[in-house]
Amino acid sequence: MSRVYDDERLAGAYERGNEMPEGSLRAWVGLIASHVRRPAPRIIEIGSGTGVFSAAMARWIESSEVVAVDASEAMLAEARRHHAHPAVRYLRGEAESVPAAAGVFDLALMSRVIHHLPDRARAARELARVTRAGGRAVIRTTFRERLDAVVYDYWPQLRAGDELRFPGEEEVVADFVSAGFVPEETVSFAQPVTASLAAYHARLIGRPQSKFTRLTDEEFHRGLARLEAAARAEATDRPRPVLERYDVAVFSRP
Ligand SMILES: C[S@@+](CC[C@H](N)C(=O)[O-])C[C@H]1O[C@@H](n2cnc3c(N)ncnc32)[C@H](O)[C@@H]1O
Repeated sequence: MSRVYDDERLAGAYERGNEMPEGSLRAWVGLIASHVRRPAPRIIEIGSGTGVFSAAMARWIESSEVVAVDASEAMLAEARRHHAHPAVRYLRGEAESVPAAAGVFDLALMSRVIHHLPDRARAARELARVTRAGGRAVIRTTFRERLDAVVYDYWPQLRAGDELRFPGEEEVVADFVSAGFVPEETVSFAQPVTASLAAYHARLIGRPQSKFTRLTDEEFHRGLARLEAAARAEATDRPRPVLERYDVAVFSRP
C-alpha cells in the first residue's frame, strides 16, 4: 500500500484541507445512497481516511451500519478524533486483505483510493468477497482519461505523475469484472469544495494531499504563489465556488 498516509503531518493536514461544504457532502452521500438496495444497510468503506464519508453515510443513510477500514493508523486516529459516530467502526486493514467476513455488506465504497493500490485486481476480489449477492461496489475516483483537477492549473507538473498513477476506466472495469462484478454505470459528478479561490488557496497552504509530497518545497511554493495571485484577482471580481469533479463507477455483485 501507499505508506505516505502513515505520516501524521499529512493525516492532520488531510483532515483540515479536505473538508467540503455540508451541501456537497450531502449530495455525495445522496448519490452513494441511491445504490443501496435494502433498508438498514451494512456498508464498508475501504481507505476511509479521516472518516468524512463513513460518518456522513452513518448520519444520513437511515439505520445504516458502517465499517471503515484504512491501512494508516495516523488517518484512523484523525477519523476517531473528528468523525466518531456510534454506527461507525474504524478498523485498521488493507484493501487487498479486508478484515471482514464474506457476503456481509450491501455496499462497499472506495473513494479516492484506487490509484493507491499496488494490486487493484486483488482488492477488487476482496470487495467481491465481502459484498453480499445483490450488493454494490461504488468507486469514486478520477479516471486517467478525465484528470482535470484545479491543482493542475497551478502545479501543472503534477499531471504527468497522476497520468501514471490513476488507472483508466477500462482497466478498473476489467479488474472488477474479473472479480465477478457486473458494471452498472459510471457517472461524473461535480460539487463545490470551497466558496471561492481565496478559500481554496487557504486550504492548500497545508499541503493536504499526497500528490504534493512529489513536489520540492520550492515547486510547491511557486504554485501556491500563482494560486494566491489568481485568488487576489478573483476577489476584486466576483468570487466563484471551486468545483471538484469525480467519476463514480458502480458495480453490482450477482
Ligand atoms: C486520498 S485518501 C482518501 C480518504 C477518503 N476515502 C476520502 O475520499 O477523502 C486515501 C486513503 O486510502 C488509504 N489507503 C491507501 N492504500 C490503502 C490500502 N491498500 N488499503 C487500505 N487503505 C489504503 C490511505 O491510508 C488514505 O487514508
